[in-house]
Amino acid sequence: MNVLINAGPTRESIDPVRFITNRSTGKMGYAIAEAALKLGHAVTLVSGPVSLPVPDGLAAFIPIESAAEMAGAMKQAMPGADLIILCAAVADYRPVVCSRSKLKKSAGNLFLELERTEDIALSLGKRKRGNQILVGFAAETDDLETNALRKMKEKNFDWIAANEVGKPGRGFASDNNALTLYASDGRRFQLELQSKKRLAVELLSLILHPGE
Ligand code: C5P
Repeated sequence: MNVLINAGPTRESIDPVRFITNRSTGKMGYAIAEAALKLGHAVTLVSGPVSLPVPDGLAAFIPIESAAEMAGAMKQAMPGADLIILCAAVADYRPVVCSRSKLKKSAGNLFLELERTEDIALSLGKRKRGNQILVGFAAETDDLETNALRKMKEKNFDWIAANEVGKPGRGFASDNNALTLYASDGRRFQLELQSKKRLAVELLSLILHPGE
């Protein structure tokens, strides 16, 4: 199976030395890439800047920085993929203008105008073919289930893995996580707090062999 995964944060430039980003470390997406490789799948990993080693044996590794670059890479790779897993923490906003020279400080406040980035998941959801499986992630601090189910529907996901952020010992930057995995046919699976590596194996086995 051809598996396409995105992982990590994006960086949205303010000027040549500054950017807006988020706390994603890429650990969950990289763990899923490694689990898929161990199962013998051909894995393409599109990754924002992270400090993890590139897994051995990938079919392709596509490093990107911005949400726009990630959108381009994902749309290009999507037609060849059977399973697409969207683990990246894509910035929702980017500065309207990226200054060509370093912004100088002055005494007053600085206002940054931000514009929406492309919702990559939404774009891929619209392009999905019947035989492609699209899996999204949802990181929420509130109303986890309601938000996750709404996102799955809006973005045409077949599965959504919901994780609560803001709790200690899990989520962003942690080696561990707990997930609730929802299928678009209404089934749900609780994946207990454990290492992201073990979680990745469990997640893939549920998605690939949902009847077992
Ligand atoms: O940001 P949101 O909570 O809607 O993210 C849910 C899913 O959408 C995740 O799988 C994430 O990778 C994806 N996403 C995306 N492009 C964005 C924002 C989120 O692909 N601009």
